[in-house]
Amino acid sequence: MYRSTSCNSLRKEHSGQSVTLAGWVNSRRDHGGVIFIDLRDRDGLTQVVFRPEEHPQVSEAAHGLRGEDVIQITGKVSPRLNGTENSKLATGDIEVIACELTILNKSDVPPFPLDSKLANEDLRLNYRYLDLRRSEMAQNLKTRHRVTKATRDYLDEKGFLEIETPILSNPTPEGARDFLVPSRLNPGSFYALPQAPQQYKQLLQVAGLEKYFQIARCFRDEDLRADRQPEFTQIDVEASFVTESELQSLIEGLLFRVFKETRGVEIPTPFPRMTYADAMDRFGSDKPDLRFGMELKSLTEVFKDTQFKVFRSVLDGGGVIKAINAKGAAEHISKEQLKKWEEWVKTELGAKGLAYIRFKDGEWESPIVKFFTDAEKKALAEIMEFHEGDVLFFGADQWQPASEVLGRVRLRAAELLKLIEDSSALKFLWVVDFPLLQFSPEDNHWAAVHHPFTRPRTEDLHLMESGDYGKIRAVAYDVVLNGVELGGGSIRIHERDLQSKLFGILGVGPEEQQIKFGHLLKAFSFGAPPHGGIALGLDRLVMLLCGAESIREVIAFPKNNRGVDLMTQSPVEVEPRLLRDLAISSTAKKA
Ligand code: AMO
Ligand code: AMP
Repeated sequence: MYRSTSCNSLRKEHSGQSVTLAGWVNSRRDHGGVIFIDLRDRDGLTQVVFRPEEHPQVSEAAHGLRGEDVIQITGKVSPRLNGTENSKLATGDIEVIACELTILNKSDVPPFPLDSKLANEDLRLNYRYLDLRRSEMAQNLKTRHRVTKATRDYLDEKGFLEIETPILSNPTPEGARDFLVPSRLNPGSFYALPQAPQQYKQLLQVAGLEKYFQIARCFRDEDLRADRQPEFTQIDVEASFVTESELQSLIEGLLFRVFKETRGVEIPTPFPRMTYADAMDRFGSDKPDLRFGMELKSLTEVFKDTQFKVFRSVLDGGGVIKAINAKGAAEHISKEQLKKWEEWVKTELGAKGLAYIRFKDGEWESPIVKFFTDAEKKALAEIMEFHEGDVLFFGADQWQPASEVLGRVRLRAAELLKLIEDSSALKFLWVVDFPLLQFSPEDNHWAAVHHPFTRPRTEDLHLMESGDYGKIRAVAYDVVLNGVELGGGSIRIHERDLQSKLFGILGVGPEEQQIKFGHLLKAFSFGAPPHGGIALGLDRLVMLLCGAESIREVIAFPKNNRGVDLMTQSPVEVEPRLLRDLAISSTAKKA
């Protein structure tokens, strides 16, 4: 037996007991010959004391211990002396007086201190197995476990079956590139790793399984960010004979359970609903952060007769003028910084500019107010509730880009004003009534906003005939928490003809439909039930539960933002022989 109990279990009432503990040397202090060790295991810390006058040999051996050595000790639990208790530690009232010590393994000096938060991320990823020894990281993984456990329990109670679907599969369009896997047995052919189990979970509905879920690994070859990894995990759900509101309540119940079990909080349900059009118009985002206001206001009416040429030409071109008021921002942002923000919207967001007015010392500082009439100024101040200390930002463009740019400025201003720091607020929201299709000028064709299996609203079906595709609304919904898109889903198309027609609008002709989606279309002709579902990003959910800044903090072995696993150095080049076996020739040049 390596141990009789864990390093987080001993309390005052255990005084006098003999125990055996095993774990890592978290720290060692030498107080005039008496050695104190904080012994760590997965669950916590226990102070172990080596007293030379009582156990000279054992204490001598303890002198040689270093951080991260793995040891086993046996000793007696003893209350700490009055005044030496450590209230920050669960075991802080006791210590173990060691009478035996076995060194199970020695450790080299770790490349970074395991108690600091600051180590550079590349280094942490390189030595991930050490990084995960830090209690914060272990805590994140425990929370992740609790979330999947609560999810399985909840969905099981609701009658859902956990069913695995293939990893070696066919391409399924979710908007990213596929990772491909060459087939040795079928030279020149490739599997795609699933971007999501979308088609399989729909086929399970055709199969009559009715309620499916999976904690599903998904793979997407896309540019990486703090909340995106090339492989990630979804809580994937699909059901037959359900309405969108039934699915939404199911997910509200799931999130309620998860927050209750992991954070002990009871989140208010049902979540508010907001249409996509409203979310974009008022917050400039399809995943609005509702922890603060600073809503976008329309000034199109105020400036309808303006002579300011920037606004004039936008309005003449059918565009809009919108603005936000960053209340109290004047003292936090200098003219130089305002110039930088303007540069940022131009270079990174593709905007034409970022007009502003800073209300400081009774003056309106701005390069553009000289073009405004008194009446315009008055109306503007009224609508925007513009007062001393405030900064207004303007977006003049077509409705969509003007809203999106101000949406980004709104988030940046909130960061500047520290509007969301230290806030424990949990603002959940359903964004509904997404458009079904969006025109992509680069590719010169229509693309699905979610994916091509999403159902158009019945009232909008006629627009598929009239060609007014941009106005068709989808029966699709995203669940948003604090400005993060946690998940998205929809009611699906279950009729062969409607699915085929939508593929056609997306530019997928009959032949290509047969090649890519023949299996699905065929399945729909054998009595496919009405069905729908959703997928939640598990990594993002756990990130928010842990208050982490990036999903990399809640994934045991993530890739860095160049898609590399620094610990194993994957991806790696392979021997030419292996490529030959797979009938592949590489055109890549060595860097
Ligand atoms: P969607 O593409 O919206 O929908 O994905 C669902 C959720 O998965 C998470 N997510 C990601 N998390 C980490 N890294 C990524 N690269 C990444 N991409 C997506 C997000 C997102 O909300 N098949 C549909 C679901 C359905 O219709 O049922 C789908 O995959 O939190
Ligand atoms: P300009 O006349 O181009 O120098 O622009 C005058 C001011 O209006 C500058 O502060 C620009 O950043 C701003 N501006 C220009 N185009 C736009 C636009 N489309 N939306 C918002 N502000 C703009």
